[in-house]
Amino acid sequence: MTSDHWRTIKSLPQLSLSELFESNDKRLAKLGLEQSGLYFDFSKTHLNDEALQAFQGLADHLGLSAKTKALLSGEPINISEGRAAEHCAERGIGNLASVENARALHLRMKSLIEVIDSGALGEFTQIIHLGIGGSALGPKMLHQALKLGDEKYELAVVSNIDGCALEPVLERFDAGKVLLVIASKTFTTAETLLNAQSVIDWMREQGVADPLGQVVALTADPEQAVQWGVDETRILPFSETVGGRYSLWSSIGFSVALALGYDVFAELLDGAAAMDQHFQEASWDQNIPVLAAFADQYYAQVRECETRAVFAYDERLGLLPDYLQQLEMESNGKSVTVDGEPLSLHSSPIVWGGVGTDAQHAVFQLLHQGSHLVPVEFLAVIEPGDSLNPSHHNGLLLNCFAQGAALMAGKKSDDSHRNYPGDRPSVTILLEQLEARSLGALLAFYEHRTFVNAVLLNINPFDQFGVELGKQMAGKLAADDGNRLDASTEELKKRAFGV
Ligand code: F6P
Repeated sequence: MTSDHWRTIKSLPQLSLSELFESNDKRLAKLGLEQSGLYFDFSKTHLNDEALQAFQGLADHLGLSAKTKALLSGEPINISEGRAAEHCAERGIGNLASVENARALHLRMKSLIEVIDSGALGEFTQIIHLGIGGSALGPKMLHQALKLGDEKYELAVVSNIDGCALEPVLERFDAGKVLLVIASKTFTTAETLLNAQSVIDWMREQGVADPLGQVVALTADPEQAVQWGVDETRILPFSETVGGRYSLWSSIGFSVALALGYDVFAELLDGAAAMDQHFQEASWDQNIPVLAAFADQYYAQVRECETRAVFAYDERLGLLPDYLQQLEMESNGKSVTVDGEPLSLHSSPIVWGGVGTDAQHAVFQLLHQGSHLVPVEFLAVIEPGDSLNPSHHNGLLLNCFAQGAALMAGKKSDDSHRNYPGDRPSVTILLEQLEARSLGALLAFYEHRTFVNAVLLNINPFDQFGVELGKQMAGKLAADDGNRLDASTEELKKRAFGV
């Protein structure tokens, strides 16, 4: 019974982090793991041999091996939608037909990039990428992380329906030089299509004779894009089995591949494939995504932590917490098991975070002394991304490491206001360099960790029905067909629109 395993896990002795270090001088060797230019330090979590063993028992019981195999071989594991989850096929791991298909679609994307680079479609130097959620967060985050600043194309990613997001881009950009990229898996998303229409209108107003001739569409539903008016030759399809929040690896990565070069995109895929392989082959006690998920479940279920905080000690990775919020919360924010039964465990924690050192001067008070226990994740890059005096980067890294040490050690004081309880856990992920390969491996790590968490919770991480109701309500409010919503909502509408 699953509950027996949880009972075992919850009844394990709860040693403090300092006791765990004192009782095992091999702790760091065991819980510090390297892979693809990344170093993961899980030693400042409360995992120990007994906990690992108990979690392995749970994972065994829940069929983690078989489920991983099903994921990586393209079986229809997204049962509520009756399809596979084939983001790994984009990286070359999956069933043969899907891998071949992904490869062919990548080649098509590469060819279109070559045509655009040659100037055959126009003299483009600016890209407006429109998309939202998984069709925007990945490209935006990747571009910020990897851009050098001397690229041929300037890229603006716009997601929000709020005109305050799009208007400044239109004011800055030159309609004749803009390639408009519309990224939408379904090609039905209201925000993206309204923004796209506004860009087309703006191009026309600016004297562009054939705005649709400057459009590229990235979608799993090419028919919809054709109906919208996009020329078939400039539609880059991807498979329906690639989920929105896992779609960075598909043609949704086009704008980044164009802006930074296809080779960068190819390296990103290679890095992810290396992590896929590690996840597929490493034994559980050395499997990085598996260990991370064990720690996540320990904090979520045993210590009942409701949030997890991620701090990137690198400006270039500043959008990573946003990306992870969608990946983890949209995947694992569920209240029913795969069988539709009520979930008796805590589902995904609320993922939040920011950049260091800024966050230290804003929210770290709560991490050190607040009544919530918040597992923290630190990310840092050893090689600096700037050429200023090394004291900048050295200070950044030292602060990062010091925070993890301070959270763990704490500091006793007779003055309760000045007392730091300590024993607060953190994971540190160190990248040797911030480049496409290591970033690809890092993102694949997060995907697999999210998957393992879902297996341990026995939920389906690949659907997202929870986002639909709000969309339906927005439609109802807009319809103005006499059907009223609740009094509060109707009053808000009246105050805004007068009706
Ligand atoms: O509303 C949620 C969602 O469906 C996400 O899952 C998805 O990434 C996003 O909207 C955008 O959807 P699409 O790519 O179909 O426009």
